[in-house]
Amino acid sequence: MRTLIIYMSVHHQNTLRVATVMAEELAAELVAVDQAPSPPLADYDLIGFGSGIFFGNHHKTLLAFVEALPAVTGKQAFIFSTSGVGRTRDHALLRNVLVERGYSILDEFSCKGWDSWGPLKLVGGINRGRPDAEDLEAARVFARGLKARIQGTT
Ligand SMILES: Cc1cc2nc3c(=O)[nH]c(=O)nc-3n(C[C@H](O)[C@H](O)[C@H](O)COP(=O)(O)O)c2cc1C
Repeated sequence: MRTLIIYMSVHHQNTLRVATVMAEELAAELVAVDQAPSPPLADYDLIGFGSGIFFGNHHKTLLAFVEALPAVTGKQAFIFSTSGVGRTRDHALLRNVLVERGYSILDEFSCKGWDSWGPLKLVGGINRGRPDAEDLEAARVFARGLKARIQGTT
């Protein structure tokens, strides 16, 4: 199973830490969406998309990347994020665009991440230390679940 993880992590590298654990567990290639052109997505059986949440949605660079993707038929994907609140409800826009492009979303993961935006900076931010060891273990278990599900279908 070939897996690619495409991420954007700009605030405190919170999402990168989660993506790294998932990549280890899935033996996935990890690519920042704003760096070198990503490899052809057609080469992969499973593709993960993740970033922090900014004003209620994934990072705009990741959203723009996904909006420009060609249509596929049922390619397996997963979505993840870190955020101040840590909820998958904020995945709606990215999820909708991926589904419109023909991706099949296997599962979604979110956890809290250190957030020191704007006035929060004055108090050192919220969720300092997140993602923590427990969050990273949850990310690992999530990735293991994906692997089991995808191997069950191939
Ligand atoms: C400009 C800005 C806007 C943000 N908006 C939200 C938001 O709407 N909801 C939320 O839960 N967290 C929000 N956050 C917190 C980030 O999602 C959180 O810190 C995330 O872990 C950052 O991920 P990164 O370090 O991988 O970039 C915001 C942070 C910044 C800097």
